[in-house]
Amino acid sequence: MTIARESWSARSGFIFAAVGSAIGLGNIWRFPYVAYENGGGAFLIPYLVALVTAGLPLLFLDYNVGHKYKGAAPLAYRRLHRYAEAIGWWQVAVCIFIGLYYASVLSWAGSYIVFSFGQQWQGAPEQFFFEQYLQDSGSALSFSFVPQLFYPLAIVWTITLFILYLGVRKGVEWANKIFIPLLFLLFSILVIQALRLPGAVDGLNAFFTPNWPAMLDYKVWLAAYGHIFFSLSVGFGIMVTYASYLKPKSNLTGSGLVVAFANSSFEILAGIGVFAALGFMALSQGSTVNDVVTGGIGLAFIAFPKLISSLGAGGDLFGFLFFTSLSIAGITSLVSVMQVPIAAMQDKIGCSRHKAVTLVGGTTAVLSTLIFSTRSAISLVDVIDHFINNIGIVGGGLLSIIAVSWFKRSLLPPLIDHNNSVSSVRLGKGWVFMLTVVTPGVLLTSMALSIKALIHHGYGNYSQPLVLIVGWGSLLCCLIAALWLCKLPQHSLPVKPVAQGERHE
Ligand code: ALA
Repeated sequence: MTIARESWSARSGFIFAAVGSAIGLGNIWRFPYVAYENGGGAFLIPYLVALVTAGLPLLFLDYNVGHKYKGAAPLAYRRLHRYAEAIGWWQVAVCIFIGLYYASVLSWAGSYIVFSFGQQWQGAPEQFFFEQYLQDSGSALSFSFVPQLFYPLAIVWTITLFILYLGVRKGVEWANKIFIPLLFLLFSILVIQALRLPGAVDGLNAFFTPNWPAMLDYKVWLAAYGHIFFSLSVGFGIMVTYASYLKPKSNLTGSGLVVAFANSSFEILAGIGVFAALGFMALSQGSTVNDVVTGGIGLAFIAFPKLISSLGAGGDLFGFLFFTSLSIAGITSLVSVMQVPIAAMQDKIGCSRHKAVTLVGGTTAVLSTLIFSTRSAISLVDVIDHFINNIGIVGGGLLSIIAVSWFKRSLLPPLIDHNNSVSSVRLGKGWVFMLTVVTPGVLLTSMALSIKALIHHGYGNYSQPLVLIVGWGSLLCCLIAALWLCKLPQHSLPVKPVAQGERHE
């Protein structure tokens, strides 16, 4: 029996889903603290350079590969070149690791919607977050069970798998069509409220005042390149997979620009909202923004509750808006992350969506729920996020670029022809130059520096064995999965790539 490949109902369905994937925890939870730690306003320059020199070129590549070769990442790359299938499986494995920890952060956001009512952290958000809620074991690994982490995680996974179970059109597309306008509405109310608070201008000054010397630090550039792929959802198979459900005549680059613009605007809006709020908090405590800001993972879960407390009773609503926005943004991205391994399994063995959701989605959900309802949840999130972002995603993107622009250059002209036959913005020499020289150049440098820093200095204050097992171990698992899965037999496929005339498969 052949199973017909699913499709979006219209291009707007794809754009909603792609925007929903791009706008996620990365925009609200990650961007403000990464920007703040890396030069504040000056970070916007490396960020925009990274967007133009790496984010957009790879976004266009992902869209064209997925659309032309009609498959989730492994199949699309296999049709591009037999040996490239491993790149697709690497990206699938990266998605599984992201799914494992992303759901955990998302479940904290969900819990904080509830905690906002009555401000349950009772004036001590930091202790509440680490000691009462996470029961964090600190730098030592501990797998003791924490029940209050288990239930929200189980709910997050149930909602995610339910949406995926309903399919591309009735599940993913519909969820995004409801959630994305709702997210924009809630978040706009939040930002307007934040800007009206006394002290907001000081916060914006802290965010936008450039720290120029920071730009001479290569780590600031690494942070920008590490962040942009995660933020745009490129380099880990999502856009390849989503583009494969587009109808043959679909404007690819036009859609890509809409998605990139929406994503970056939302990211900067989030920075403005968060820092306006921090400015108010600094004013009300008689200190400076530098003193009230909490870097790293804690920005959302410590600084925001502090702010909510300083707003008095009105803070409950503020907390509700913030954590609901974070949860909505996260759920649409988690759906897209999990769609990659599910679609890859459907393509590889020819099984139904329901079976793939149950097997791949169910297994990831069980593992995630068990591993992240323990006292080491936050350490595991932090270490996996760092390794998977800076090496897993950047590496996956780099491999796909190198495969088409260095090893098999004959693949680029058909991709350009394909794009230009359906899209409003044409690709040409500029794109080829970016893909062949600029993007691989900056990504290779960025990866080499990240790896060197990790080898010499480890990561954070974590012990060497923890970094070795969890960080490097995750990457090793991705590598083994990629090399093993590409060797398994491919189910014969009913769906042909869009453009005929070349030999695929
Ligand atoms: N693009 C998603 C995010 O920013 C994964 O969170």
